Amino acid sequence: MTTIRLVTVGDAPALLSLRTANRAFLTPWEPDPPPGGFTLNGQREAVRRLLSGYAEGTLIPHVILDGDRIIGRITLSNIIRGPFQSCFVGYWVAQADNGRGHATAAVARVAESAFEDLGLHRLEAGTLPHNKGSQEVLRRNGFTQFGHAPRYLRIAGRWQDHILFQKLNPAGDQDAQSA
Ligand SMILES: CC(C)(COP(=O)(O)OP(=O)(O)OC[C@H]1O[C@@H](n2cnc3c(N)ncnc32)[C@H](O)[C@@H]1OP(=O)(O)O)[C@@H](O)C(=O)NCCC(=O)NCCS
Repeated sequence: MTTIRLVTVGDAPALLSLRTANRAFLTPWEPDPPPGGFTLNGQREAVRRLLSGYAEGTLIPHVILDGDRIIGRITLSNIIRGPFQSCFVGYWVAQADNGRGHATAAVARVAESAFEDLGLHRLEAGTLPHNKGSQEVLRRNGFTQFGHAPRYLRIAGRWQDHILFQKLNPAGDQDAQSA
């Protein structure tokens, strides 16, 4: 069964081995890793940065699990309050665990948490135009395409177009939770 929980610094060794094993699989879909990204210290640093964003209220970084095995990550980022009440969602699942509904289930769980626990109004996600698997994951979760952004993100070393998707809180207008 797919579950998600907050990432911890203790997850760094498992994340390092997963990212190393999936390096070739993930590289075409991700920004260039920071120097030292494929070392244990680099992974620990990356988790600490995520957790400091969590402490500031701008990020919610999760690991995705199948049983007690970490198989990927999913993060709500750039949480913006005020009149926007919106954030981004980004995720990956290890290649060996693809095609079993894990990403679809993980996105469903963070969407529920974003709307019900955080009281956000909107979730946004962007995919490369040829990332049909990710687009499928979003559509299955009720995201709709609202734009095509030219040269939107620097992925795999070059500025690449993205298809932009959003999902609005199905409960309708939310009260702002904080200014
Ligand atoms: C995209 C990704 C998260 C999907 O993870 P996943 O756990 O395999 O996703 P799910 O199993 O929930 O659903 C994917 C669905 O898309 C389908 N799909 C995959 N590639 C596809 C393609 N090229 N065309 C059409 N459908 C495709 C799958 O077959 C599956 O549908 P099915 O259940 O009917 O077989 C994973 O491949 C990944 O991590 N990719 C690299 C990183 C990435 O792209 N992250 C997202 C950035 S926006």
